[in-house]
Amino acid sequence: MAAESVAPLERGLAVLRAICASLDDAVRPGDLVRETGLARSTVDRVLSTLTHLDFLRSDGRAFSLAPRAMQFGDAYLAACGLPDVLEPLAVRLADELDESVSVAVPDGDGVRFVIQIPRRRTMTLSFRVGDLLPAERCAPGALFAPQWSAEQRARWSRRLAGSGPPRLFSPLPPAPGRPTPQEVESAFDERTNAAAKAGWALDDQLIEPGLIAVAVPVLDLADGRAVAAVSVVSHSSRHSADSLRAHALGRLRETAAQMQEALADSRSRAQAEPRRASGSDPGAGTGLAASFTPAPVDEPKRDLGPHYLRSLARGLAVLVALGSKRGGMTLSAVAEATGLPRATARRALITLREQGYVDCLDPEGRLFAPLPSVLELGYARLCGRTVEDLVRPHLLELSRKVHESASVAVLRGPEISYVARVATSRIMQAAITVGTRFPAYATSMGRVLLAGLPDAQREARIAATDLRALTRFTVTDPAVLAETLRRVAADGYALVDQELEEGLRSMAAPVRDHRGRVVAAVNVSMHAGRVDADHAREVVLPALTATAERISADLAAMGDRLDVAAA
Ligand code: PHB
Repeated sequence: MAAESVAPLERGLAVLRAICASLDDAVRPGDLVRETGLARSTVDRVLSTLTHLDFLRSDGRAFSLAPRAMQFGDAYLAACGLPDVLEPLAVRLADELDESVSVAVPDGDGVRFVIQIPRRRTMTLSFRVGDLLPAERCAPGALFAPQWSAEQRARWSRRLAGSGPPRLFSPLPPAPGRPTPQEVESAFDERTNAAAKAGWALDDQLIEPGLIAVAVPVLDLADGRAVAAVSVVSHSSRHSADSLRAHALGRLRETAAQMQEALADSRSRAQAEPRRASGSDPGAGTGLAASFTPAPVDEPKRDLGPHYLRSLARGLAVLVALGSKRGGMTLSAVAEATGLPRATARRALITLREQGYVDCLDPEGRLFAPLPSVLELGYARLCGRTVEDLVRPHLLELSRKVHESASVAVLRGPEISYVARVATSRIMQAAITVGTRFPAYATSMGRVLLAGLPDAQREARIAATDLRALTRFTVTDPAVLAETLRRVAADGYALVDQELEEGLRSMAAPVRDHRGRVVAAVNVSMHAGRVDADHAREVVLPALTATAERISADLAAMGDRLDVAAA
């Protein structure tokens, strides 16, 4: 460790990496001690700090990533600007060809995805933004390899031979019929040379049986280096390697040319922005990464004692702050964006650089920017989460607190559809599972969802629904229902008493997305004979609304990456 680097930040990153690399979603401290080689007390302090910052959550025994950890990957994606600039062109290409399209960048001797526009088909395997593939087993790798330094090339050879760095890919165990490292090297060299001559590269089931991809480089027009590669990805059930190339290569090349122009354009617009003296206004003009607003360092008000590693918190804030500007940030800009002393920000940058998450863009070492490997800090993992994954821990906690079943549902036409449910183990409980549907008008979640609709849509839905009496309590008068929904909107919750089924009382609160729209509802269902309405309001309601707010905050952190309505 260099004299100036920050040990708690290094340890924090090691723990985060180990959690992200684990096959399980939730990891116990003991496993992290084994994986990182750190002392138990160190692991505990790191976990406690990361949990305090809401990058991790714990159920008391094991720790898992919280949606807020997407901020790290978001910082890289915003700073490099590739999604902002290239995604519209990638979407258009996918539409025109009716095939999946992705954009990847070089990351060491790997290839990391920064854009994925998948076409949903039965036979698709789609990688996520943030996923890393070994260069020798995908199309973009052959386009990036000619740019490797001698040192990178040597590292790659060592990895193939099984003695490479553990952080990337472990070598496949030797098996009869599997190519030797030497054979892999020479086959890759051949593909790399062919790709350099032709200007495109092919993956004919190198990474996955059935998966075929054609890729072309996206060059930086200033220096001719490949900054990215754009791929069209299909399946052997639709295309042979030859037919995919015939189908896609022309449009792929045109798109890459447009991408190059768009990148050059966005760079010159960013440079045309008058820089402030220190270059320090993170929000200045087009230099701002449009989709990203890092939070300032959130220093805890009270002394959190030896379990709070302040320099870890500050180092991560520096990493996140690097997302606030394209084209790199000066030390002064980082200090200003985080509110940290320059010396503190500088030590954090040095540590992040040593750890391979940050580099300097200029030879003078003044402009710092995050690297693609930042995406390994949970981004791909969190992108892969479903709505059910996200809400389940919240429902467990709610159900544990109120000793009743809890669910989340979305609106599907005139019905609600359950996306997650946690049932108590009482004998008497409704037989409901994920995917179960009920008429919206007679359920608490339905009422919350209807109440959240714009007026015209709500009225149209009520008008189109046959309001049948499901019990002797069901509201069937459209005017009464409309009035009830107005009250639900004003109160912020719905209580429905035995209108769906006799004996069932249910209370629901709205879940909102990052735009503030009601996209789901969370409820607690109770036995009417056991829980009276007053108890529900006094005891259940506060826990329910707190849960709705926590779920909404998690959805906000996921942003557009999670489509709740489609769950
Ligand atoms: C992908 O985007 O999933 C992809 C792209 C290129 C490959 C393999 C997979 O070679």
